[in-house]
Amino acid sequence: MTNKRGAWTPDSSTLTKAQTVMDAAAQSGNLYRNGLGMIASENIISPMVQNIIASDLHGRYAEGMPGKRYYQGCDDFDTIESIGIELARSVFNAPFANIQSTSGTVSNIAALKALAQPGDDITAVSTADGGHISHARMGAVGLRDLNLSTYPWNEERMEPDIDGACELIRSVEPKVALIGQSVFLFPTPLKEIADAAHEVGAKVMYDGAHVLGLIAGGVFQDPLREGADVITGSSHKTFPGPQGGFLLSSSEDPAFQKRLNNAVFPGVCSSYHLHHVAGKVIALAEFEEYGEAYAKDIVQNAKHFASALAAEGFDVLAESRGYTASHQVLTRHGGKDSGAGAKAARLLEDAGIITNMNMLPGDTKALTPSGLRLGVQELTRVGMGPGEMEEVARLYARVLIHGEDPSSVKNDVADLKSNHQIIRYCFNEENQSGYPL
Ligand SMILES: Cc1ncc(COP(=O)(O)O)c(C=O)c1O
Repeated sequence: MTNKRGAWTPDSSTLTKAQTVMDAAAQSGNLYRNGLGMIASENIISPMVQNIIASDLHGRYAEGMPGKRYYQGCDDFDTIESIGIELARSVFNAPFANIQSTSGTVSNIAALKALAQPGDDITAVSTADGGHISHARMGAVGLRDLNLSTYPWNEERMEPDIDGACELIRSVEPKVALIGQSVFLFPTPLKEIADAAHEVGAKVMYDGAHVLGLIAGGVFQDPLREGADVITGSSHKTFPGPQGGFLLSSSEDPAFQKRLNNAVFPGVCSSYHLHHVAGKVIALAEFEEYGEAYAKDIVQNAKHFASALAAEGFDVLAESRGYTASHQVLTRHGGKDSGAGAKAARLLEDAGIITNMNMLPGDTKALTPSGLRLGVQELTRVGMGPGEMEEVARLYARVLIHGEDPSSVKNDVADLKSNHQIIRYCFNEENQSGYPL
């Protein structure tokens, strides 16, 4: 048990423990309010979303679909979910949308339930190449007892080797060809893969957890028009809503749509966290207004940040492709499996910059990787632009290249952040208290 904050011990009173929890939550808020949140899977929620997730909906149930419930008292929630389904279909340009899933992982489990049976084959990107744990035998793929074959990887281009992936699909003849990663710098050339998959009767499942906001904003790729049958994703990464998931499909077939809905409820959810569903609906409405601009600014910032880091002397991956076309930037800090990425992440944390270590091509150990995966979606959300990206790159260099004491850099990090406390790309922009408490 760690006890970095507060004075509780296992023998403390329950009230002391509860107060310590309140204090730790406030401290965690302060860390991000005064620091730079740069974990690529995170974001902050708008004031309107903050309000609705603290509403009475938190304690309620609504199993089923709008108008077809197993509980009374759902009329108002039916309105909320119906608006949400319509907004999701519009924002993601999808004939089908289910907004109930409680996370990206739950969306993946539901999709795999709908698309495959235990013992079936699946093809996906390996976790070593950036695939998510839910694409692996240790995660949802294993939970569904699917046989996994992984695509060959093109390190130079940081995407699946497309000819190799198509060859694999044609020889394995999987039920599901899964595309998408947690390390996701560039759009996947989907059309050829989808052609190969459909040729052998496989469905194409695109995990857009990280890039959903970029897809909806029209700046990454358009999987449903490029051959994906189903998109899964989180509602809280580049799509800036509360924690949760989405399930989308290009299918107009009511029987297939029903299979997807049933895979979420009753397949993998009973209560599906109504307050977060309502938060997703507000976030969808805000995205309809501001999403395109937000997505465009994120990618512009990521490109700018990557170039600025390279100019400071960092080893930034995928130089030949312009470093990135998403919200992510990858940097290597030492030899493969050296643990240099872990050390860099700790030093940055001491300076108030929150990142995560990440395996890069050639690394084999998740706890001692050589790299960092950096995301600019949260900094963009509080109004930072290209000028600030250069400042942030300089702060990185002071800590990681010039060896300056992180605690002295921390003051400048807080200074920069103090000018960026208002959450942008949302309703009530001019009338808000900013970061969640
Ligand atoms: C590609 C991918 N899929 C799924 C997930 C899981 O999302 P969640 O944390 O919402 O369960 C992640 C998480 O980062 C991810 O990177």
